[in-house]
Amino acid sequence: MQDFLSLAKDRYSCRRLEGGEINPETLEKILEAGRCAPTAHNKQPFRIWAVRSPEALEKLAAAAPFPFVGSVSCILVIGSSPAEAWVRPFDGKNFADVDATIVATQMMLAIHDLGLRTTWVGHFNADQVKAAFPEMIPFNLIAMFPVGYPAEDARPSVKHPDRKPREETVKEL
Ligand SMILES: Cc1cc2nc3c(=O)[nH]c(=O)nc-3n(C[C@H](O)[C@H](O)[C@H](O)COP(=O)(O)O)c2cc1C
Repeated sequence: MQDFLSLAKDRYSCRRLEGGEINPETLEKILEAGRCAPTAHNKQPFRIWAVRSPEALEKLAAAAPFPFVGSVSCILVIGSSPAEAWVRPFDGKNFADVDATIVATQMMLAIHDLGLRTTWVGHFNADQVKAAFPEMIPFNLIAMFPVGYPAEDARPSVKHPDRKPREETVKEL
């Protein structure tokens, strides 16, 4: 693994993906990176669906308006379960989405570190996905990761290096 800051800066949303088979050991490492994530009170209120059958992949691709979602042999779907999550007693805040987001982020970085590429896809029709996969109904579907190999012409988008000025997002008190 490269040093962490280099990995974090090197990662980009790759929208030109090619769908070769993903080695099962590589997929296991990605899933492990998600499973070992910290969660509030260690409640682990998440599910990861590793979608690999052609029929299931087609159903997922139909729910997202991006051609690259349909170009891969594996899509990871991440859901959070408010019913299983820790709730902060002071204000009733449910941490399910926070926990699932950490899981998703660790997998996103692992995918890049292992030489594969992805984009966090949040823009999809969650009701359509749940209609196709009823076991997902109780979950908040927070991410789809189409996992593939970068096409030869894959590049970061022009928006990739565009970050707000440090003084706008980092405050010292
Ligand atoms: C929660 C979340 C949802 C996103 N949803 C989409 C999406 O539906 N489609 C897409 O093409 N990119 C999506 N992205 C990728 C962002 O557009 C991208 O991260 C941002 O423009 C910065 O570019 P970079 O990832 O290359 O650094 C999403 C990212 C996040 C974190």
